[in-house]
Amino acid sequence: MAPSSFAKIALAAKVGVWDLYYTLANQVLPLRKVGSVTPEGHPGAGGKWPEFVPPKDGDSRCSCPALNAMANHGILPHDGKNISFEEMNHKIRATYNFGPSFCYFVPNYAAGMLNKTYGKDTFDLAELDLHNGIEHDASLIREDIYFEPDQSKPHVQFIKELLAEATGKDENGKAILTIEDLSRYSSKRRADARAKNPEFTLEKIHKTFGSSNASTLLTIFGGRVEDLETILLEERLPEGWESRILESYGLTIITFNAKTVNPVEKGIDEEKYLAEKKKAEEAAAGAPTEGEASSIAK
Ligand code: HEM
Repeated sequence: MAPSSFAKIALAAKVGVWDLYYTLANQVLPLRKVGSVTPEGHPGAGGKWPEFVPPKDGDSRCSCPALNAMANHGILPHDGKNISFEEMNHKIRATYNFGPSFCYFVPNYAAGMLNKTYGKDTFDLAELDLHNGIEHDASLIREDIYFEPDQSKPHVQFIKELLAEATGKDENGKAILTIEDLSRYSSKRRADARAKNPEFTLEKIHKTFGSSNASTLLTIFGGRVEDLETILLEERLPEGWESRILESYGLTIITFNAKTVNPVEKGIDEEKYLAEKKKAEEAAAGAPTEGEASSIAK
């Protein structure tokens, strides 16, 4: 049953209070130790993930690489079917160290989106691809649904372009994606998809979802390009991998939005991307730049 507006507001208020509590508690509790972020007794503890088995025909997969990877490792059912929303809550908490408030809220939101009941119903991964539910146009790692109805397919060209944008370096000189890199590539995806897709839509809420999903690449996955190649192209968790979030209560919604999602969204500028693209095309064609053209005219 779809939640009423009152139920939606009550859920957001409850989660907001919880999230504030976890955010404050994280300030005083000790950090988890590197190497022991995934809890003992959970798949992935000590960096040992269950065997990776790619999906076979008939398995259900979706537009979310993080959930697909969990199914590929058998943390969620390998066929991607009949998953309870509560099961997803507890498993994303242990696998990725997102905060308990996020892990409760997003599956609840998904249940509402699918007209299902959080505490009772199940879903198949592919159901999450409901267009303009959470899934939307101009994603960073999927072609728009207008061009590719199967949203479970990683779009290799976009993933390679995205990772090639990385300008950061870690302490060992390895490539790291930054907030600015993510904003720049999102500007390109939005402007290109807007120009190319005759059925393009991107409401404000879907811009926010887009920046939130993309921001997990910087937070949970630490922006590490080497890891992201495996996670995004194969939908596999690398051997020895663990969430980069060390806080005891995980990544809370407040911290996620304040430190990453909002700065990523704020930095997205389609007009700047289009102006730079035009300039580069003119330079490549040998045409006079705007400044040169006006001096010729004089
Ligand atoms: C609570 C469960 C979750 C649900 C229901 C969910 C659902 C989705 C959906 C529907 C998309 C496609 C959005 C689009 O069109 O771009 C998506 C994308 C994505 N999600 Fe999830 N997700 C969940 C949890 C997670 C977690 C825990 C992570 C990270 C650890 C994550 C990382 C991503 C990434 C990186 C994308 C790709 C963004 C892009 O293409 O621009 N998701 N998710």
